[in-house]
Amino acid sequence: MARGKGILAADESTPTLSKRFDKLSIVSSTETRMSWREMLFSSPGLSEWISGVILYDETIRQTTSAGIGFVEMLKANGIIAGIKVDTGAKPLAGFFGETVTEGLDGLSQRVEEYYGLGARFAKWRAVISISETNPTPACIAANAHALARYAKICQEAGLVPIVEPEVLMDGEHSIEVCYSVTEKTLRAVFEQLRLLEVKLEAMVLKPSMVLPASDSPAQVSTAEVAEATVNCYLRNVPAAVGGIALLSGGQQEERATAHLAAMNKLGPLPWPLTFSYGRALQDRPMRIWSGKQENSKDAQAALLELARANSKASISAG
Ligand code: 13P
Repeated sequence: MARGKGILAADESTPTLSKRFDKLSIVSSTETRMSWREMLFSSPGLSEWISGVILYDETIRQTTSAGIGFVEMLKANGIIAGIKVDTGAKPLAGFFGETVTEGLDGLSQRVEEYYGLGARFAKWRAVISISETNPTPACIAANAHALARYAKICQEAGLVPIVEPEVLMDGEHSIEVCYSVTEKTLRAVFEQLRLLEVKLEAMVLKPSMVLPASDSPAQVSTAEVAEATVNCYLRNVPAAVGGIALLSGGQQEERATAHLAAMNKLGPLPWPLTFSYGRALQDRPMRIWSGKQENSKDAQAALLELARANSKASISAG
């Protein structure tokens, strides 16, 4: 949450990263995934805009081409390593089309191991999808409870938890529907965090923005997204929370940056409001890189440009 810095979410699971590679005809292997991430993390001067990188289990155990562990390499570059610890969103029994994020069994032992490997923060992503009938109160409650259990386990092990309740942009719903679902979700999440006595000062919230769905006929302006999102967080996120780092959720990169800047212009806000983007930081560099070593410099330049723009957006004032 250092001023002017954000988080790079590079914790895609192997199937998710392979899907993204496939679209660009990049072969997905242990080696290519390692090269891709080594290229990203070694971008010169990245730590000026990025304070932390979220890793996936495969990466935290890998070494770079120079034989250095990723955590060590990040540390040498002034960046803190984080780790995704959930094991994915799985069908919620009895509730068609809904998921609950799993990974609590054995989590204490796993986070202890990750701490030993050098991780200092963690991430758990809950997924809430919107349709005519969903989300159900059952889905919100199950996910909120799991998020709070995870957060408490992390704090006990000395890791800062990133609590990520993502309301998906898929569908045709309006911004009003997204507002209402985001509000219900945040209320449930903070109720559970309080119940489990999670230290709000020692956590980061990673929410989705309040937006119309990607196929909604009622698209709105940047200012409207910023106002609805900030208003929803002001009403539902306690001021004690250490910081908010937004996800991009599939928005085009320019939109994700413009929204962040417009939100910060509505400040001063009670918490630092920055970014923890995955696709909005990586899509362009990945297209440029395309699996070819000779494109690395250009891909790094693209990442640095996006990181710098979002850094600026995180400290823009009205
Ligand atoms: P996006 O910014 O692509 O939504 O990814 C952020 C993330 O960490 C999803 O869990």
